[in-house]
Amino acid sequence: MILRALWLFAAGLPLDAQLISRPVPPPDAVERGQKQFVAQCGFCHGPLARGGESGPDLVRSEIVLDDEQGSLIGPVIRKGRPNEGMPAFDLPDPQIQDLAAFLRERTQAAINRNAYAIQDVLTGDRKAGEAYFNGAGRCNTCHSAAGDLAGIASRFQPVQLQTRFLYPRGGRGGAPARPTIVTVKPVTGRAVSGTLEFIDDFTLGLRDAEGYYRSFPRDSVKVDIKDPLAAHAQLLRQYTDKNMHDVLAYLATLK
Ligand code: HEC
Ligand code: HEC
Repeated sequence: MILRALWLFAAGLPLDAQLISRPVPPPDAVERGQKQFVAQCGFCHGPLARGGESGPDLVRSEIVLDDEQGSLIGPVIRKGRPNEGMPAFDLPDPQIQDLAAFLRERTQAAINRNAYAIQDVLTGDRKAGEAYFNGAGRCNTCHSAAGDLAGIASRFQPVQLQTRFLYPRGGRGGAPARPTIVTVKPVTGRAVSGTLEFIDDFTLGLRDAEGYYRSFPRDSVKVDIKDPLAAHAQLLRQYTDKNMHDVLAYLATLK
């Protein structure tokens, strides 16, 4: 960082001016890149690339700052850094360029506005968010503002709140997550349903309604798993940016 700053100083321009003077990426590429980033990278780097629970802030990354249309970001994405917790992604060039465009936009936005994500995320319309919650988003089929989500905005800052609803992990504040319901159907005999307790490539274990633990070899049964978070994974593909901002603005009122 120091070297970089010195070099820029020598070049006669302050760091910010250098970055701003770079071409602004095309808005359609930024938009595609953002969708992809939220779905594939946001879990670790945060939905706005400002860092998350298990990945660094990319807006401050030298690699991102020095990147030209994926020249530096591309190799990191494709090779990953498995030992450091960054998986490899086998993505074609156009997708890498979209991601690079989105990250470039983030670095420029951070400098231009100096306001960062915190203000950015609360720009939505809470009424529209409430309508989405009870309408197209079908959030109210599993949640309620007066029930399980009451007071959620007092427990989390806006940026955390955004991560919680985009990538919930199950289990509130140490409470056990809602169980995953699984139905197992042997080749002959009756199907058995219960809460999933164990699963790997070979074995599945569930606890049935009477409370008994039962295990099955995977290759001899048909398995139907109801992941309680499947709806959230689906929603990630469905939200527009506006939906996300609106929902967050609404959740932020649940104090
Ligand atoms: C499972 C978590 C995880 C996911 C998913 C993930 N990353 Fe990372 N990423 C990391 C971690 C951890 C590092 C830091 C590795 C290190 O310390 O060298 C990192 C580093 C990076 C870096 C290098 C930053 C630097 O300055 O060294 C870039 C660029 C990056 N990630 C981009 C992405 C993009 C783009 C995606 C989505 C396609 C993505 N990451 C998905 C965890 C993740
Ligand atoms: C099919 C059911 C389902 C739907 C639909 C659904 N969720 Fe969730 N949501 C869950 C489950 C399960 C969790 C994990 C936490 C738990 O077990 O309550 C969760 C977690 C959350 C959390 C984190 C709660 C916390 O305390 O950390 C938020 C916020 C949230 N959802 C908001 C939403 C919003 C907003 C929508 C609609 C856009 C939505 N959910 C749609 C099932 C659902």
